[in-house]
Amino acid sequence: MTPTINILFDEQTIATRISDLAKEVAETQPQNLLVVAVLKGSFIFAADLVREMHRAGLAPEMEFIHLSSYGAGTVGSEEIRVLRDVESDVNGRDIILVDDILESGRTLKFARDRLLGRGARSVQIAALLDKPERRKAAISADFVGFACPDKFVVGYGMDMGHAWRQLPFIGYVVPDET
Ligand code: IMP
Ligand code: MG
Repeated sequence: MTPTINILFDEQTIATRISDLAKEVAETQPQNLLVVAVLKGSFIFAADLVREMHRAGLAPEMEFIHLSSYGAGTVGSEEIRVLRDVESDVNGRDIILVDDILESGRTLKFARDRLLGRGARSVQIAALLDKPERRKAAISADFVGFACPDKFVVGYGMDMGHAWRQLPFIGYVVPDET
């Protein structure tokens, strides 16, 4: 049986917000801009964001880092593993780290510290969704798409057990009545 998915943010709402986010980034006049997308969840957001950055007059280069966290649920013992690292030299560059959701903040804190440790001039965070009440690490996003209700969301790149990344909107799964 196919579960029902309620729409939280529809395609047009997402598109309009991302266009505004790109303009916000452009106003900061980044130098030698490198966009680093955190895989996998950010792939659709990052693809739309860089195209809006182009329309806003920016010329970002693009990189990817694939991170995976283990031990979720065990407070304080979560470990982050690098499955694929950024290849470009980041020294002296302004970086925008792009992710789908900022939740505990451990993933993005790890990625930011890693890039700063390699000499990035600045590392700013663009999160499509923010769940601030779930934060564990001392980190906040510099650019936020939407505040997210405390629900498990899917679509627009985000998954539940590997499913639903392909949805063009952001929604949440309504549990079966049965
Ligand atoms: P954290 O900020 O280190 O806790 O990691 C947040 C990551 O957990 C996100 O990038 C997503 O990959 C995943 N995540 C958190 N909440 C959700 C959700 O509601 N739906 C799908 N993935 C989520
Ligand atoms: Mg993620």
